[in-house]
Amino acid sequence: MKFFPTLILSLIFSLTAWASQPSIYGKNGVVVAHDLEACQAGIEILKNGGNAVDAAVAVSYALTVTHPQAGNLGGGGFMLIHLADGQKVAIDYREMAPGEAHRDMFLDDSGRVVDQLSVRGGLAVGVPGTVAGMQLALDKYGSMSRKKVMKPAIKLARQGFQISYDLAYSFGWLNKAAEGFNETRRVFCRNGEIYMPGETFKQPDLAKTLKLIQKKGNAGFYEGAVATALVKSSSSYGGMITLADLQNYKPQIRKPVTGNYRGFEVSSMPPPSSGGITLISMLNMLEPMVFDSVGWHSAQHIQILAEVEKRAYADRSVWLGDPDYFSVPQEKLLSKEYARLRMTDYDSLSVTPSDSIYPLNDRDLAGIHLNGHESEETTHFSVIDQWGNAVSVTTTLNWSFGSYVTVEGFGFLLNNEMDDFSAKPGEPNSFGLIGNEANAIEPNKRMLSSMTPTIVSRDGKVVLVLGAPGGSTIITTVLQVINNMIDFGMPVHDAVNVPRFHHQWQPDVIYYGPGAISPDTAVLLKSMGYELTPRYGYGEVNAISRDKIFGGWIGAPDLKTASHGAAY
Ligand code: DON
Repeated sequence: MKFFPTLILSLIFSLTAWASQPSIYGKNGVVVAHDLEACQAGIEILKNGGNAVDAAVAVSYALTVTHPQAGNLGGGGFMLIHLADGQKVAIDYREMAPGEAHRDMFLDDSGRVVDQLSVRGGLAVGVPGTVAGMQLALDKYGSMSRKKVMKPAIKLARQGFQISYDLAYSFGWLNKAAEGFNETRRVFCRNGEIYMPGETFKQPDLAKTLKLIQKKGNAGFYEGAVATALVKSSSSYGGMITLADLQNYKPQIRKPVTGNYRGFEVSSMPPPSSGGITLISMLNMLEPMVFDSVGWHSAQHIQILAEVEKRAYADRSVWLGDPDYFSVPQEKLLSKEYARLRMTDYDSLSVTPSDSIYPLNDRDLAGIHLNGHESEETTHFSVIDQWGNAVSVTTTLNWSFGSYVTVEGFGFLLNNEMDDFSAKPGEPNSFGLIGNEANAIEPNKRMLSSMTPTIVSRDGKVVLVLGAPGGSTIITTVLQVINNMIDFGMPVHDAVNVPRFHHQWQPDVIYYGPGAISPDTAVLLKSMGYELTPRYGYGEVNAISRDKIFGGWIGAPDLKTASHGAAY
């Protein structure tokens, strides 16, 4: 009998000799994140006895250094934690509107949205939450000192690291785009003398800021020299953040939203993210569908997902916002019965036009047509430790390099998250997403997000940790990875790396990445009445999945965007 497991293994090996194989496997711990240095920072903490939360804080600070497009001190994010004892918790360190913000702040005298005002410069900046969020995570769920977990980031900022192709490319692009933002061009673009891939990038100003935070905690950022400089830099570009706003910033501990999909438990981010509710509502709509005879990315598959996505995004436009300011009908949106009712007009042979899909109880939004566009920088990372604690983090400045305002002398960028509010009810934001009263600007309110850090478990045990950047496409990206794995039996590294598509209700278009829809399938979909638009940029999923063969964990970075993982 003792040969039996060996036999099974050799059978598995012979059957899968040419199957795709993962490149990252760890028995004890895995970190998957945009940059290798950030993954290594996390693994160093895990190897030294830290837990997944300690490692996540280390990775977040390291990404501030290595991935300034999205890793941040001047932004915010969400951390979803699933502890080995089954406890689940969400930490919300989303930015808040400044105390002087008001609902019409991005409108001109005739009530029109002023182009770019919510996107670049000081008014675009929400009060940053990352430093306070990391502190809360560490205090409540970590086991190491701030001194230890911040050490790798400080070393990276001081000693520098090798600039990747991806970073050099982004810096080159920033050099042109950030004209007039002199401090940004000084710090990240050497005043126009562009960095080449392979050069060493040192950030002494950022090292000083990190050191201050390491020493003083929240007071090192929300008070004192950093706070004063932050207010000054924001206001020199027309911003309204005050010292009081910084001192009042509070991260929140929230209860994750949970759902069930074919026996798997899915936990994700509650409002002020729209991610968790929209994801679970889409999974609920998908559950009655039988995928056994549906070909992957066939017209039938794409139609099912597109129709589900349209309905969930229509509801998102009206019913989701900061729960401290707006009563979100969470229970209803998450119920299987509501999902069933939502799909009663689904017809597998025809398109339901978006103009005939109304948000729940609201018919006023029909007929709005949008031109969405996309920036590509938020970042997601996943961590698992030797005890089975899992952490899923999505963090951002919103667009790549945020508002372009760098805090003078302190080496970090400020976000442009104010654009995630609905500047005017019914008008699209820069992701083409429509918002309404639920997401109108109010002082100290959190802007609605699509970030969807998610953890899937079975019988209380974590099986998958995932999330992605990509603005409005984040939620459908996470949905597709789960659909690929659970309904199409893909291993995690395939589920993450195959191409993706996206529908967000308005505009009434299926966007698709390279290779996501074959020419024959496109003909079929068009003959049904779907409009198809090719598009790059479908997030960077950084996932970890439990390994069924050896136990332990498989790391699955998104190779389309040269992401990384490390394990031990
Ligand atoms: O919170 C949100 O939904 C957006 N600020 C995320 C922005 C984003 O993902 C940008 N690009 N990848």
